[in-house]
Amino acid sequence: MKEQLQKLREQAMDELAKCEAQNELTEWKVQYLGKKGELTSILRGMGQLSPEKRPLVGQLVNDVRSALEHAYEQKEAELKRKALEEKLKAEAIDVTLPGRMVPVGVVHPLNRVIREIEDIFIGLGFEVAEGPEVETDYYNFEALNIPKNHPARDMQDTFYLTEEILMRTHTSPVQVRTLEAKKGTVPVRIICPGRVYRRDDDDATHSHLFTQVEGLVVDRQIRMSDLKGILLTFARQMFGPEQQIRLRPSYFPFTEPSTEVDVTCMACRGDGCRICKHTGWIEILGAGMVHPRVLEMAGYDSETYTGFAFGMGVERIAMLKYGVDDIRYFYVNDVRFLKQFASRS
Ligand code: PHE
Repeated sequence: MKEQLQKLREQAMDELAKCEAQNELTEWKVQYLGKKGELTSILRGMGQLSPEKRPLVGQLVNDVRSALEHAYEQKEAELKRKALEEKLKAEAIDVTLPGRMVPVGVVHPLNRVIREIEDIFIGLGFEVAEGPEVETDYYNFEALNIPKNHPARDMQDTFYLTEEILMRTHTSPVQVRTLEAKKGTVPVRIICPGRVYRRDDDDATHSHLFTQVEGLVVDRQIRMSDLKGILLTFARQMFGPEQQIRLRPSYFPFTEPSTEVDVTCMACRGDGCRICKHTGWIEILGAGMVHPRVLEMAGYDSETYTGFAFGMGVERIAMLKYGVDDIRYFYVNDVRFLKQFASRS
């Protein structure tokens, strides 16, 4: 029996050495150490031994069992270590490999110009306000002193959704909404960027959808000179410190007096070129002193309060700033066009 045990031990050790994976190891365990394994069957046979031999053989069997168990644990640990090593090897990251470039988007040129305009006016103490693109006739026209059948409605060909609801033709309705919300309190200092819509045939300089930034200031003793100062400061921050502005009389129903504002042509710095049609000036803004009737309709006492408003076209400014010669480029999202704004400021 002693020999049998010795043989079993050697055979088990040999086979254990050959195990290369956890499943083989498990099979091995079942075969030699399991309940129906070979050691157990030897133990069962002990009943036939004489009482004197039993403890001796029992001792031997236990020795073999613990030797096998110990060997099993070592082997298992070894296999685990190997598996981990292989895994680490397979998953190794080569940090010397060059990185893969992830394409990064750029801010759309129109948004870029809007942000720039916003930054300038925020620096001057303005707040940014917003309003709906689908407007009522009242806010878009009536409350801005443009009653029904007023010829000024022709200035802005309108997309009507119903008789009373329309796509706003300018951002000026936000003036009225802001004044109403402020309920007669001052100061009011807002700019409002947003999309506007007009029935227009699209071409290189016209689009049925475009973007405006509206400005409004209302307080005690606001004068035309304040308007001029703010717009000059804006022009210089936007287009350069050498900029001049020029005010020309104009007409808007919601401002009185009204003016159109030119800035020094940024292409020729005022010398005259094709872009400014050899005048040295470029028109970028409509503006004026808020009409007393607009203030009254929105709940402001026009004897106590005065204000100015202005509106500018963002596309036009972006076209001048970046030398874009067709307004439609801004809307078709051609990546070849947009990409060019990646590194410009
Ligand atoms: N709302 C005018 C337009 O779209 C621009 C403007 C705004 C003029 C504010 C004067 C004051 O043409």
